[in-house]
Amino acid sequence: MQIFKEIEPLRAHLQHKKRAGFSVGLVPTMGALHEGHLALIRASKTATGVTVCSLFVNPTQFNNQTDLEKYPRTIEKDIALLESADCDVLFAPETPTMYERPSVIKFDFGQLDKVLEGKFRPGHFSGVATVVSKLFNIVEPDEAFFGQKDYQQFQVIAKLVDELKFNLKLTGIPIVREATGLAMSSRNLRLSEDQKNKAVILHESLSDARAQLLAGKPWADIQADTINKLNKTAGLRIEYFELAHRDDLTMTTDVDLKKAVILIACFVGEVRLIDNMFV
Ligand code: PAJ
Repeated sequence: MQIFKEIEPLRAHLQHKKRAGFSVGLVPTMGALHEGHLALIRASKTATGVTVCSLFVNPTQFNNQTDLEKYPRTIEKDIALLESADCDVLFAPETPTMYERPSVIKFDFGQLDKVLEGKFRPGHFSGVATVVSKLFNIVEPDEAFFGQKDYQQFQVIAKLVDELKFNLKLTGIPIVREATGLAMSSRNLRLSEDQKNKAVILHESLSDARAQLLAGKPWADIQADTINKLNKTAGLRIEYFELAHRDDLTMTTDVDLKKAVILIACFVGEVRLIDNMFV
């Protein structure tokens, strides 16, 4: 695997590959890699000729300084995992390479970034869209791969690609889970064993809610019961548990279940986790 920290040598390398007829796949990450990230790398390896993984803990998408500081950084292990997945290129820039000066650009996705994550993490999606736009312009991939674990992020990026006419195919990859059902996440590294066991309740709540919806129970009751249950569990703090339309994340009580997604954000101790499930 070739590792680049600077933009121009990466561009030169990729131009050379493109001229030789290779298509390029991009997998943006913030590192602390796990099987979820590797599923994206494998999908890119299958679909494209050269797979570029970017690893950059993007400061502009963190609305909480402590979260940024405590974000897990495991670069040596990440490199070993990427090598084992046969990733072709790692782009791991330092912050000044991506942000020569403080960024003044702001993205506004209308309703899409006012709800759920956007509501609880103001400015988050503007930071995501900024860094992903930069990565798209640096790598100019034919195809880019994102996980559905961050479902709202996926919708934001779909809008970004569509509205700004990025010339690439966007591919979403299903959520990879631990055997317990817990969605894999870099932030899981910050959980104690006890907290990890507790965190399984996120996935359980989604599965139970899905089953109850399909059995005809009204969403308002399911939502109230679930929030109540989570609030009663020591060490958990729920931020939202919502039913939304899959395509634009509008929240209505009578959303067509075939087009619905349930989303959750919950603190386990100090660590904020998210998960979602299609109905
Ligand atoms: P990060 O959290 O590192 O995630 C990188 C990619 O891996 C995202 O597309 C995310 O949805 C996907 N991913 C994470 N856990 C997953 C899981 N359990 N199953 C499937 N896919 C999973 O998301 C980001 O970084 C950043 O916001 C980024 C897009 C890189 C911009 O900075």
